[in-house]
Amino acid sequence: MCGIVGYVGSDQAAPILLDGLARLEYRGYDSAGIAVVSENKELQVKKSKGRLQVLSDIINGGKSVEGVLGIGHTRWATHGEPNDVNAHPHLSQDGKIAVVHNGIIENYVELRDFLKAKGYVFQSETDTEVVTQLLSFYYAEDSDIFNAVFKVLRRIEGAYALGIICADCPDRFLAARKDAPLLVGFGEGENFIASDVTAIIKHTREVAYMEDGEVAVISAEGVSFYNIMEQPIEKEHSTIDWDVSAAEKGGYAHFMLKEIMEQPEAIRKTAFSRIRDNKVFFEDLSIGAEYIKSISKIYIVACGSSYHVGMVGKYNLERMLRKPVEVCLASEFRYCDPLVDDKSLVIVISQSGETLDTMAALREAKNLGAHILSIVNVVGSSIARESDDVIYTWAGPEIAVATTKAYSTQLVLLNMLGMYFGDILGTLSKEEYDAIMGELLLLPTKMEKMLEDIEDIKHFASDYFNHSSVFFIGRNLDYAMGLEGSLKLKEISYIHSEAYASGELKHGTISLIEKGTLVIALGTYAPLFDKAMSNVVEVQARGADVLALTTESNVSEMRKTVENVMTVPESHTIFQPSLGVVPLQLFAYYVALLRGCDIDKPRNLAKSVTVE
Ligand code: AGP
Repeated sequence: MCGIVGYVGSDQAAPILLDGLARLEYRGYDSAGIAVVSENKELQVKKSKGRLQVLSDIINGGKSVEGVLGIGHTRWATHGEPNDVNAHPHLSQDGKIAVVHNGIIENYVELRDFLKAKGYVFQSETDTEVVTQLLSFYYAEDSDIFNAVFKVLRRIEGAYALGIICADCPDRFLAARKDAPLLVGFGEGENFIASDVTAIIKHTREVAYMEDGEVAVISAEGVSFYNIMEQPIEKEHSTIDWDVSAAEKGGYAHFMLKEIMEQPEAIRKTAFSRIRDNKVFFEDLSIGAEYIKSISKIYIVACGSSYHVGMVGKYNLERMLRKPVEVCLASEFRYCDPLVDDKSLVIVISQSGETLDTMAALREAKNLGAHILSIVNVVGSSIARESDDVIYTWAGPEIAVATTKAYSTQLVLLNMLGMYFGDILGTLSKEEYDAIMGELLLLPTKMEKMLEDIEDIKHFASDYFNHSSVFFIGRNLDYAMGLEGSLKLKEISYIHSEAYASGELKHGTISLIEKGTLVIALGTYAPLFDKAMSNVVEVQARGADVLALTTESNVSEMRKTVENVMTVPESHTIFQPSLGVVPLQLFAYYVALLRGCDIDKPRNLAKSVTVE
């Protein structure tokens, strides 16, 4: 996934583009670049491998690039390694057209061959340069960049969010979107494009989300929109209701730590706005009791941490609803001929709402007749727009690549959906429902209490940050929670780890346990605490170093066997993983900190993976 920003107005464009890219760097940070056209039609492209600061230093913070119209890009490489040549923007051979692109052009090889046969010489290995040269090819026919854009869009296949400037049109630039997010921001005498709101929120809160196949022509005076048939269309404007500070570190060393600390408030915002008279309610859900009773099976489809939310949700929803719940990796779902039909409810979970694997799985499920209910954090995102129902997590912008508050709010919403359905299906007794509701209302406060004292976790991180392999073991909900704890550790500290169902360890993998192997034993799921204890003994017998996690009521029992124990407050089993995941997030954070890793922007990763 890459970050795109564009500006036209009366201020110098380059500093505005750099500032916008700085807020998009979490989307990709292999290289960065800008293209600016001046009033006298001089088109300058400045780009470089590495972080945005490298580019900013080259152009003196933007001061050395003149012009009030420009586009910018921060890259997560797909085609072509991260280097200066492959960085965007890409310039046409005649030096007149510059393009920035997020997505993948599936047929770029054949188009590149076509253009080479016409005499075009390519500088980079990227699919994006093909778009630039193809625009140049069509522009040469009638010097009309508008016509050239539509001709190109009819020929390219794949996903694109494009920013396009032409030196001959110093007063306007173009944007196009298909299967990759792009929005337009409306200012006073200035207008913007961006991959997401964080890039331009300091300038404007008024935006329009572009749909697939749409083209925008952006000038300082206004913005015109067109559909793929080149017909003018009107776009609805949306107003962003969170402020710029939400997308800033707020004094924390990293966005990830800030977002871990924001979890109680994010849960309050997400959950409490959907509780009335001690009952969960979801307004404007299109499905009613009749449909809910008719559901034969629930599928939860997602990737990464969102998939891990589903793994916890499976245990909880099956207990609450007594209906089968299958959790599927989105990237697998679309190729396994899923047995989905019109009696299937498919719950799609995605923080960004742009994950291509998840989007593709959504479309597959929709084609098979399923009802699509998505849980998404980014308002107006592609997945939200293509779902039959969407329930937003009000977590606010999540900047750190490693998700925390989005995971937690997704998990609470999924559990609340279980409560809502269980109440309708009559599979949750009033006593059980009220007991769960009671703990839901206490969840943020219990989490806040935990976050007040994290010294022991920092201490454990200092004990273990040099390990090269870690096992998270647990049963039932602890196992599902362990999947997320393991991913957090891997993706920001680069330590190999895996989460294992404790009962399964003895069927092979226990051969890897030797003296000094770090095993994080998860024992917060009360009904199986004794089993968890026996697994602790099992790995200790093979020399493992055990760091345990359990509830306050079981600490003394755990300490009989384990010296290092992290504790969480007691809650209903439904919400125990919501509490237990927090120490695991913090453990990963402090281990990564001690290992000197780039916590908010881990290597090879991006905030949303909009490629297959
Ligand atoms: C989470 O820490 C990871 N960054 C990653 O696994 C992420 O959860 C996954 O890519 C899914 O993203 P989404 O929720 O935006 O669809």
